Amino acid sequence: MRALICKEFGSTDSLVIETVDDPVPGPGEVRIDIHAAGINFPDILVIAGQYQLKTPPPFIPGNEAAGIVSGIGDGITRFSVGDKVVVMLRGGAFAEKCVVNENLVFPLPSQMTFEQGAGFSVTYCTSYHALKQSANLQPGETLLVLGAAGGVGTTAIEIGKAMGARVIAAASSDEKLAFAKSTGADETINYTDCSLNDAIKELTDGAGVDVVYDPVGGEMAQMALRATAWHGRYLVIGFASGEIPKFPANLALLKEASIVGVWWGTWSAKNPQGQAQNLQEMAAMIADGRLKPKITETYRLEEFKKAFRSISDRKVKGKIVFTLA
Ligand SMILES: NC(=O)c1ccc[n+]([C@@H]2O[C@H](COP(=O)([O-])OP(=O)(O)OC[C@H]3O[C@@H](n4cnc5c(N)ncnc54)[C@H](OP(=O)(O)O)[C@@H]3O)[C@@H](O)[C@H]2O)c1
Repeated sequence: MRALICKEFGSTDSLVIETVDDPVPGPGEVRIDIHAAGINFPDILVIAGQYQLKTPPPFIPGNEAAGIVSGIGDGITRFSVGDKVVVMLRGGAFAEKCVVNENLVFPLPSQMTFEQGAGFSVTYCTSYHALKQSANLQPGETLLVLGAAGGVGTTAIEIGKAMGARVIAAASSDEKLAFAKSTGADETINYTDCSLNDAIKELTDGAGVDVVYDPVGGEMAQMALRATAWHGRYLVIGFASGEIPKFPANLALLKEASIVGVWWGTWSAKNPQGQAQNLQEMAAMIADGRLKPKITETYRLEEFKKAFRSISDRKVKGKIVFTLA
C-alpha cells in the first residue's frame, strides 16, 4: 500500500510517499481500505515533534479516516468485510490501509460520505466533549468561538447551536465570518479590525459571554477571558497562533471564572463510556441534520504539501481531507 511517511521530525514538506507492506489484522483487529482521511492542525505539530505526545519516526501520521472493512482478525463479531466504517486512531490514517482494534471502529452513518466520515472524529468529538463535559454549556447561555471558521471552530458553532446556546463567532476575515454564519453562528466579530473585548461587550450589553472556546491562543486569549460573564468558563483548546497565552490570576477572581483545559484524545481514552455516550448523542444530531461536517477541500495524497500549506497559511474553512480511493 502507499503511505505518507514522516521519516524525521520537521516540516510537513519533508514527508515522503512510499510503498510499504499491507498491514495484517491480528486478533480483535480490523483492516480498513481507507477512502478518505481527515487532516487536522495537530498533524502538523505531530510531524514537527511538537505535540504533547511524541511518536518516534518513522511513522505514518493521521488520526481519523473512513473506508471499507477489507479484513478481520480472530474474534471480530461487530464487523464484516465490506462494511463502511469510520475509524479513530493514533497515527496511520494517511495511507491506503490501516489496521486498528475494533473498539476504534464505528459504522459510517448513512447520511455521510466517506469524506464527511473521515472529517468527523477529531473536531466534533473535541468540541462536544469541550462544551458538554468541560464547559457544561446550558441552553440560553452565550458561547464565543475564536478561530470560528477553522476545523474545531466550525464544529463548536454547530454543537453550541444544537445545545441551545447563542453563538458569537470570531475570526480574522469577513469571508471566514460569512462561512461561520452559514454554519449557524448568530453574530460575528472580525478580530482583525476591532477590539475583541469591546465588540463582545457591545453584543452582550456589557454582560460578557458565558463560555469562550479558544483554539487560537495568543493575544486574543486574555481579551476573551476579560470578556467573560460572572462564572464564565474559558476553554483552553489549542494554540494555532503559535503562542501559549499567560493570564493574570485576578481575571479569574473578578468573575469567579474558570480556565478549563480540554484534551479530548486523553479524556476519551480515560473515559471510554463517556466517549461512547457522546458518540451516541452526536449520532442523533447527525441523523436529524443538526451536525453536518463541512468538507471544503479534498486533496490526493501526492498533494500533501498543498494540503498542509492550506492549514499553516490560515486559509482553511471548515474541514479538509485526503481522498485515497
Ligand atoms: N484540545 C484538544 O483536544 C484539541 C483537539 C483538536 C485540535 N486542537 C487544537 O485546536 C487548534 C485548531 O485546530 P484546527 O484543526 O481547528 O485548526 P484550523 O482548522 O487550522 O483552525 C485554526 C484557526 O486558528 C486561527 N489561527 C490564528 N493564527 C493561526 C496561524 N498562525 N496558523 C493557523 N491558524 C491560525 C485561524 O483562524 P483565523 O484566521 O480566523 O484567526 C484558523 O482558522 C490547534 O491548536 C489544535 O492543536 C485541540
